[in-house]
Amino acid sequence: MTLKRKNGIENVSKGGSSIAKIVGSNVRSSNRFDPMVNMWVYEEMIDGKKLSEIINTDHENVKYLPGHKLPKNVVAVPDVTEAVTGAKLLVFVTPHQFISSLCDQIKPHIADGAIGISLIKGINEGQDQLQLISDIIRKKLKIEVSVLMGANIASEVADEKFCETTIGSTNEANGVIFKELLQTPNFRITVVQESDTVELCGALKNIVALGAGFCDGLGFGDNTKAAVIRLGLMEMVAFAKLFCKGQVSSDTFLESCGVADLITTCYGGRNRKVAEAFVKTSKSIAELEAEMLNGQKLQGPQTSAEIYKILRKKKIVNKFPLFASIYEICFEGKEVKKFITCLQNHPEHL
Ligand SMILES: NC(=O)c1ccc[n+]([C@@H]2O[C@H](COP(=O)([O-])OP(=O)(O)OC[C@H]3O[C@@H](n4cnc5c(N)ncnc54)[C@H](O)[C@@H]3O)[C@@H](O)[C@H]2O)c1
Repeated sequence: MTLKRKNGIENVSKGGSSIAKIVGSNVRSSNRFDPMVNMWVYEEMIDGKKLSEIINTDHENVKYLPGHKLPKNVVAVPDVTEAVTGAKLLVFVTPHQFISSLCDQIKPHIADGAIGISLIKGINEGQDQLQLISDIIRKKLKIEVSVLMGANIASEVADEKFCETTIGSTNEANGVIFKELLQTPNFRITVVQESDTVELCGALKNIVALGAGFCDGLGFGDNTKAAVIRLGLMEMVAFAKLFCKGQVSSDTFLESCGVADLITTCYGGRNRKVAEAFVKTSKSIAELEAEMLNGQKLQGPQTSAEIYKILRKKKIVNKFPLFASIYEICFEGKEVKKFITCLQNHPEHL
């Protein structure tokens, strides 16, 4: 098999930069991929200099991943259409609210036979059903899209600390290509075919992480947080069974994209951190996002709002008390100290 392919990378964010570090190093040591990696940069000025120019001179994303050198074959490109032109492999790592308009911009420039993989965690409420981010990319660009989700906090991936991750790919051959592009000894990949389940895990765990943050802010202990994680996982499984188009097997929840990502996010992620601060200050989620995250975006609140809309439309809000309560606290002024009641009254089975 010859796999000379030019690689285009979406968006030089924290997640984007840490995955670009891996891709840059892997393609350099393989003769199956084009050695140059285009990395799209949403341009920002840093101390009077363009971020893309800093990256191409110093080989470091000083805003989103400071302290980590990127391989020199990773080239920051501020024009998204130029970044994807000619690329056969596209890696999408951008906050989910921008994906639709980005796809519109790059659509005329997508190469024949290009395939993609999305690392984006979030969902969109479709016309009358759930729309995954990978569905938006597939629909707009008419390409095959795999997903990668797992317990992969970007700074730890960049530090090359061992972690596992999951690729969901209904096309086995594409899954193998992306595994080859992305796996390292410290970034261990399992490929499964249930792409939609993998992607939903990545989106839904961010809602549960808000609940974990409320727990921390309210001073509850580790036992309570474990209950949030368990009940949150139950709701994730129930939601996936109701809304995924294909098969949903319990085994997928035992992969890194499932229980492992849920645990790491409920202890270490940004959603947990902001939710804890939400309890301890009188500030809104939007204010805290701006103050605490240095330009990074929160996904949990927006995902909870999308899920809530879907549950309400299907008249099944009461079957998902944890998801519903988190949404109501974030957006409808429900008192956060009432969060405990959704745990106390949670049904034993969903
Ligand atoms: N950070 C992680 O640990 C991690 C790991 C794996 C996957 N992901 C996923 O990757 C996605 C991106 O997360 P992230 O942490 O890399 O980024 P982020 O959520 O921290 O957002 C910052 C990025 O958004 C970009 N941005 C800001 N305004 C923009 C605009 N108007 N248009 C386009 N881009 C704009 C910035 O340039 C920056 O690259 C998310 O879905 C996330 O869940 C993140």
